[in-house]
Amino acid sequence: MSRIAYVNGQYVPHQDAAVHIEDRGYQFADGVYEVFALHQGRLIGEQGHLNRLAHSLTELRIDWPVSQRALGVIIGEVARRNRVRDGLVYLQITRGVARRDHPFPADTESALVVTARRLPPLDKAQLRQGVGVITIPDIRWTRHDIKSVSLLPNILGKQQAREAGAYEAWMVNDDGMVTEGTSSNAWIVTKDGELVTHNAAHAILNGITRLSVLEAAAEAGIGFSERPFSVEEAMQAKEAFITSSTSHVKAVTNIDGQSVGNGHVGELTTRMLDLYVDFIEAKGGPQNTNTWN
Ligand code: PDD
Repeated sequence: MSRIAYVNGQYVPHQDAAVHIEDRGYQFADGVYEVFALHQGRLIGEQGHLNRLAHSLTELRIDWPVSQRALGVIIGEVARRNRVRDGLVYLQITRGVARRDHPFPADTESALVVTARRLPPLDKAQLRQGVGVITIPDIRWTRHDIKSVSLLPNILGKQQAREAGAYEAWMVNDDGMVTEGTSSNAWIVTKDGELVTHNAAHAILNGITRLSVLEAAAEAGIGFSERPFSVEEAMQAKEAFITSSTSHVKAVTNIDGQSVGNGHVGELTTRMLDLYVDFIEAKGGPQNTNTWN
């Protein structure tokens, strides 16, 4: 079966899908994106992703290429045409095509691309296998809440992790605090047993998976703290994990070559993975999607 992409109003074979060389996304990284997980044929946290997209577009003053409602239809249609039940939908909106000039172009329509890809179904046993992370300086701009396609620090960081044999890199700000992973949110269970992840601020991308995990924890009566934590605190933590639409809840058992806790996947991490899967299967994603309003 050949893959289908949506490009500016048309469904086209993936191999022929193309945008103009003067698309501002290509020339300036002047655009935003979203990655939606599909689990058992269902989009996870669709409204949350759309609300976060609205936030990114508003902050960058990029127009919606189509209405939010129409976009929902296109996303579903791309998943359907590619017969993706488990996998992801990628969506990108740029400020559009215009002669290269830094200021916003007048009368240019924003450009929309949507693709979908199959992935192996969520596998709890595999997610429970711990991975390693490295820590690197956070060299990004200061608006991490905007899901910009400008990802150079993130890809350089991820590549550094790969070359070090690690799964992810945790970015550390000038105060020694872990902000987040290059494409995931970072979590620890402190030596005193407190579940901690960075508070939603300009310093992080407020993950849809992160929100689901927080809501699942609250429902189960598990306390948590949304606050920055230092590398030092992470090194002394009992457990650690990351969350994202592609990695779900993934155990971290090693930071910069040092074991987290006893080096085995933690009890609370395992519990959060189970609670997360139950939560998305029951609710379809976070219920509090007004976070970006
Ligand atoms: N990344 N932080 C960053 C910097 C991210 O890029 C992502 C997601 C997250 C987690 O967000 P969510 O739970 O909504 O997926 C946190 C996507 C998956 C990517 O860039 O591929």
